[in-house]
Amino acid sequence: MDNILNLLHNFFMTLLPSNPNGCPYLFLAPMEGVADPTFRKAIASIGGFNEAVTEFIRVPQNAHVASLAKGYDAKELGSIPLAAQVMGANPEGIAEMGKELEKRGAKRIDLNCGCPSNTVVGKGAGSSLLKNPSSLYQIAHALVKAVDIPVTVKMRSGYEDTSLIQENLLAAEESGIAFLTLHPRTKVDGYGPPAKWEFIAYAKSILTIPVVGNGDILTAHDAHQMLKETKCDALMVGRGSVINPFIFQEIQASFEGKIYPSSWDKLSLFLDIFAAGLSLEAPLRNRASKLKQLFSFLFRKTAALLERKSLVLTQQPEDLAQFLQFAKDLLKEYGDFSL
Ligand SMILES: Cc1cc2nc3c(=O)[nH]c(=O)nc-3n(C[C@H](O)[C@H](O)[C@H](O)COP(=O)(O)O)c2cc1C
Repeated sequence: MDNILNLLHNFFMTLLPSNPNGCPYLFLAPMEGVADPTFRKAIASIGGFNEAVTEFIRVPQNAHVASLAKGYDAKELGSIPLAAQVMGANPEGIAEMGKELEKRGAKRIDLNCGCPSNTVVGKGAGSSLLKNPSSLYQIAHALVKAVDIPVTVKMRSGYEDTSLIQENLLAAEESGIAFLTLHPRTKVDGYGPPAKWEFIAYAKSILTIPVVGNGDILTAHDAHQMLKETKCDALMVGRGSVINPFIFQEIQASFEGKIYPSSWDKLSLFLDIFAAGLSLEAPLRNRASKLKQLFSFLFRKTAALLERKSLVLTQQPEDLAQFLQFAKDLLKEYGDFSL
């Protein structure tokens, strides 16, 4: 029996090959409103991650899935695969959406079982699925049956508490998914208290499918620590990549015993690509607030930047190029970049 389980694990691990330097497969996490196409394209210029996934695409009851799927572009990041994440509570609708995304070139569909937003959970989707393992099973299984590409689940450790974690993990695995990502906080935790990596280790101990570890990886050292403590098969980084867009390269380099030179020129290019990606049709105020949102993360990288964060966030820019230059000057001076 163990041999069969090993074979199954190894089969699904072909979707998560380690990098040539021994670094495990690295994912850029989905982050609705933050890791949007503009950010994804900018961070792709720095690279180091193996795959990205869209922020959740909400699939309401009676959705017109063909229109909803139009926003998905499988080739958005060139050679870096971009999976599509769906969120909903209706198995038929989700299955139809899966087929539509597959037609549009998606190589993987990820089911969101973690979004804490009230407007979402009110309708039984996202983290609400964790209240009832059989709903989670039904939706994931409907997707698995509908498409020929791998289906995966991204989940939290529970809704109010972790009492159903075993049932939820097993329901996800039994639905036929290829691997699972665990962000080990409950819905009630939100993003606040430290992620409990011991639940990732627990998921590894009871599942045959590969487990992707996620939560609070802010440095290459954290990545190694998570691997050591949980034995997870691959890693996903979210906020850490907005605070430090070089994090994936730093993790990769650490597997060769090297330190990645996070150069100012590359960060400057990243910022230019990000700024150029902001739609000129959007009002200046909206473009400024997208830049400020990015700066609110980037200015957490060092204590010296953190001290100056409010200088940037309190600006009411009338000229975006000037605003960008103002923030760049501070980042360059206080961000600890090599040349
Ligand atoms: C602003 C924001 C938006 C997020 N949106 C999504 C989402 O659309 N789908 C999803 O599965 N997780 C979403 N997440 C959760 C992240 O993917 C990730 O699981 C979580 O932030 C923990 O990882 P980290 O500590 O590396 O950020 C979001 C997180 C943040 C902070």
